[in-house]
Amino acid sequence: MKIVNSIQALRAEVHAQRMAGKRIGFVPTMGNLHAGHITLITEGHKHADIMVSSVFVNPTQFGPNEDFDNYPRTLDADAAKLEAAGCHFLFAPPVDEMYPGDQDKWAKVVVTEITDRHCGAARPGHFDGVSTVVTKLFNIVKPDVALFGKKDFQQLAVIRRMTTALCFDINVIGVDTVREANGLAMSSRNGYLTEDEKARGATLYQCLCSAKEAIQQGERDYSAIAHAANEKLKAAGFEPEYFTVCRADTLEPAVASDTDLVILAAARMGKARLIDNIDFQV
Ligand code: PAJ
Repeated sequence: MKIVNSIQALRAEVHAQRMAGKRIGFVPTMGNLHAGHITLITEGHKHADIMVSSVFVNPTQFGPNEDFDNYPRTLDADAAKLEAAGCHFLFAPPVDEMYPGDQDKWAKVVVTEITDRHCGAARPGHFDGVSTVVTKLFNIVKPDVALFGKKDFQQLAVIRRMTTALCFDINVIGVDTVREANGLAMSSRNGYLTEDEKARGATLYQCLCSAKEAIQQGERDYSAIAHAANEKLKAAGFEPEYFTVCRADTLEPAVASDTDLVILAAARMGKARLIDNIDFQV
């Protein structure tokens, strides 16, 4: 695996592969890689000849009081994991390569509507930072295929809409969430949890599974479902942020006649803000 730090060098490497007729797959990350990230690379091999991954802790998607400074940076370990997964190129640019001078103020990509709710409401500007950096990365790598985790369900929906609305010629693939044995969704932010918090953190997924089961058995009072989940989360030591039964396409709150559903949830536990979701049909 080659590690490349500059946009120019990465463009040259990927261009050579494209000229050789190779299909390019891309997995953007912020590093501190775990089995969830690695699954995206493994899945990517099924769709592309050459896999490119990026590790870039993107400052523009963090709010002023968020964890940008403390976000775990583990580049050597990340490179070893990507190499073991058969990744061909790791793009690890410094911040001033991606945002030289005040370029972060010159332009940004804003995906509307689907960003209004859930994490978009809780983290103002977060999705603008995500869509802007992913646009820049798409323009640098020019992949045929890009893979994103369903763990960040709203982010995946934002990227899909952006790709369609801005005519990126890229096949966006969503990959199932990888979980710990107790059901806790793997996340770089789980490192902020104590062992006890990790054990109690499994309640988030249990609440999602119970809510799905209730809906599949005919329950349609979605606010009662949310209320029950929030009480259970509080009892496990969570501070719930949202727990909402949504339409899977628009992420608007679902009504009883909707059949393609996703339950989106966010809750704080100790120093971590955890998100998770479950999608299903009724
Ligand atoms: P990051 O949180 O590092 O996640 C990178 C990718 O890994 C995302 O597509 C995310 O959904 C996926 N992922 C994370 N945990 C996962 C799990 N348990 N199972 C499956 N996939 C998982 O998401 C970002 O970085 C950034 O916002 C980024 C898109 C890189 C833009 O900066």
